[in-house]
Amino acid sequence: MEDQCPALSGAVAGKIAPETEQNCIIEVPQPCGLVIFGASGDLAERKIIPSLYHLCLDKLLPDNFFVLGVARTAMSDDQFRKAMENAIRTASPRGYTDESCRLFTEKLYYIPMDYGEFSQYRALTDRLLSLEKKHNTLGNRVFYLAIPPAVYETVIQNLGDSGLSQEKSGYSHIVIEKPVGRDLASARKLNVTLRRSFGERQIYRMDHYLAKETVQNILMFRFANSIFEPLWNRQYIDHVQITVAETLGIGHRGGYYETSGVLRDMFQNHILQLLALTAMEAPALFEAGRVRDEKAKVFRSIRPFDLGRLDETVVLGQYDRGSLEGTDVPAYREEMGVAKDSLTPTYAALKVIIDNWRWKGVPFYLRSGKRLSTRKAEISVHFKPVPHLMFSQALDGGIAANTLVLRIQPDEGIGLSFQAKNPGSRACLNTVLMDFSYRNVFVLDDYERVLLDCMQGDQMLFARDDGVDLTWELLTPLIEKLEGESGKDNFPNYVAGSAGPRPAAELLRRDGRAWRPL
Ligand code: NDP
Ligand code: BG6
Repeated sequence: MEDQCPALSGAVAGKIAPETEQNCIIEVPQPCGLVIFGASGDLAERKIIPSLYHLCLDKLLPDNFFVLGVARTAMSDDQFRKAMENAIRTASPRGYTDESCRLFTEKLYYIPMDYGEFSQYRALTDRLLSLEKKHNTLGNRVFYLAIPPAVYETVIQNLGDSGLSQEKSGYSHIVIEKPVGRDLASARKLNVTLRRSFGERQIYRMDHYLAKETVQNILMFRFANSIFEPLWNRQYIDHVQITVAETLGIGHRGGYYETSGVLRDMFQNHILQLLALTAMEAPALFEAGRVRDEKAKVFRSIRPFDLGRLDETVVLGQYDRGSLEGTDVPAYREEMGVAKDSLTPTYAALKVIIDNWRWKGVPFYLRSGKRLSTRKAEISVHFKPVPHLMFSQALDGGIAANTLVLRIQPDEGIGLSFQAKNPGSRACLNTVLMDFSYRNVFVLDDYERVLLDCMQGDQMLFARDDGVDLTWELLTPLIEKLEGESGKDNFPNYVAGSAGPRPAAELLRRDGRAWRPL
């Protein structure tokens, strides 16, 4: 069965010429059984099950398919189905009908288990085998770990010891949610446990940012157009900014966030992945291994932070009470599960230097924070100003340099600012925008994409062990140094609903630059 992407259209330039429209085939995976550990949890309820339902509505799930939910809570198949029906309704998906929901949840099953009790993996295996027979899924299995990271290793080891990781008639893939470790040592330990039971080819380390259409488009934009790549280097680019700003606070995830903070939660994974896609060289083939090789080379080229001079490269923040869209919101320290004197950062801005031929002398400024004024994720490439200003007699001061903005979310698209003559006076320039919008053309959301990919065996959008290792190698010394420092007595240091802490502006001002407004 096949489905096709809708054609894109340029927002300003009008519709893309029909002859350039491509048919992008989304293949339906082979028959498969999906085992979700932590099926009673938030991620299963809010993301995994509603995404599977969408795939089902879009006819992108194989007919021979089932979900086996696993968790400690005692539940029957029927109770699990009811809970998931509610979850789907709450997610209010497009195209929802009671009947289609009922048909989908008929394929859901549940088994309660204690993950640490090895004998229970026998019962799990028996149930799995009987469902595989019933649904004729050819022995293809995906194990999705939607459980707290503290339980990962127990489950992985027991899956290995009970033979469930072995590929007999079909494939056996495992999906690990972030965080993969909380520092270099724990990430390496987890990777060793994983590799003891599963081959790297079987392992899918989730980074849902990689599954966003606009993030995937970074490589298409760079390497499927001949006009941008020649400019994509130190000769023409002054600096790059990567922003992931959120208006949300930490919600009910205070317990997790307190042990994580923004550097672990957003930088080690999502933001460094965005940086790698922006900075990497072109692989010879658009293929998982080669793309991951090129990303690893970028991570290897990032200059380690000078721990003695962090004030020049790092700014941290934590949100105070404030107001967002007219609603008062609490300070981070007042959130559920957060210590009253917490020093966990909810905002960070970093200056990163890539020591390689292409990027020598081009700083990458990265920032991310919670409870900021705007929800926005974007990569902005700031080109150098023109070398000589022939209009200097007619213009006051300089002219704005070109900026290319890859808008990841919301308002997904690409904008290029350039100078154009203002009608009227002889030499009057204005900055204008050439804009392409992705509005209303998405087919799959990020979780739908990765669920399909791990059933199809495509690892392109997942992190590889060396990439995880290298990103932790970069950030662990920084995080340890910052956590050991006492200098955060200014926390909270930004008001919820603002643009973040003031010193973040200083980070760029010192270099004669400024952040793009949020
Ligand atoms: P939850 O806190 O909702 O936990 C999931 C399930 O795990 C619970 O329903 C619970 O089920 C079980 N559980 C909780 N504590 C333990 C324990 N000590 N031992 C064994 N089982 C336990 O987590 P989420 O669903 O929010 O997240 C799951 C994973 O996904 C985590 O690794 C998280 O970091 C990651 N993640 C989550 C995101 C989200 O938006 N929620 C986003 C990105 C990643 P029961 O008691 O029935 O066994
Ligand atoms: C998750 C982080 O990985 O990404 C969250 O744990 C964050 O803290 C979320 O809110 C952001 O994802 P998105 O897709 O909403 O930008």
